[in-house]
Amino acid sequence: MTWRPVSVALLLLFALSLVSPSRSVAGDEGEQVFLGNCTLCHTAERARAKHLTRGEWQQIINRMIGFGCPISTSRKNQEAVLEYLAKAQGPGATPATRAYVVNEESEDVWVIDVPSRRVLAKVKVGKLPHGIAVSPTGKRSM
Ligand code: HEC
Repeated sequence: MTWRPVSVALLLLFALSLVSPSRSVAGDEGEQVFLGNCTLCHTAERARAKHLTRGEWQQIINRMIGFGCPISTSRKNQEAVLEYLAKAQGPGATPATRAYVVNEESEDVWVIDVPSRRVLAKVKVGKLPHGIAVSPTGKRSM
């Protein structure tokens, strides 16, 4: 039996849909809060590189508050970010499939789903401190 290219493609798509996490992004408030508060002094990669337990993330957030992270003003936002990080960046979390691109001109961060190359969200982060707004790859893709 010969494989027709179209069925192979469909099979591939199906396999991919099984592997890629199907977190809903538009409604992922924690991720928005994370991008709005945690990319002011360093890139999101700082957190994306880590896989920590909930307790360890709590300690990190407390430390960032000590550095002056504006999330200190909202208990609700702290919980949303903790929830998000514990889930997305937990000890056994799947490797990241998101790329974060800082766009200096429009002062926002673009969340890109790497497998599908779709822009999932654009999050306003306000004025970025000078010299911090470097995209993780050093490339601008837009
Ligand atoms: C006011 C500036 C500032 C903000 C806002 C900020 N951070 Fe940081 N962050 C730092 C500094 C400075 C360091 C490096 C010093 C250190 O690692 O203790 C750091 C380091 C880190 C590290 C690496 C720590 C390690 O042990 O290697 C992580 C993870 C991190 N930040 C996560 C976050 C998260 C999550 C948020 C949002 C809740 C956040 N940061 C917001 C200043 C900030």
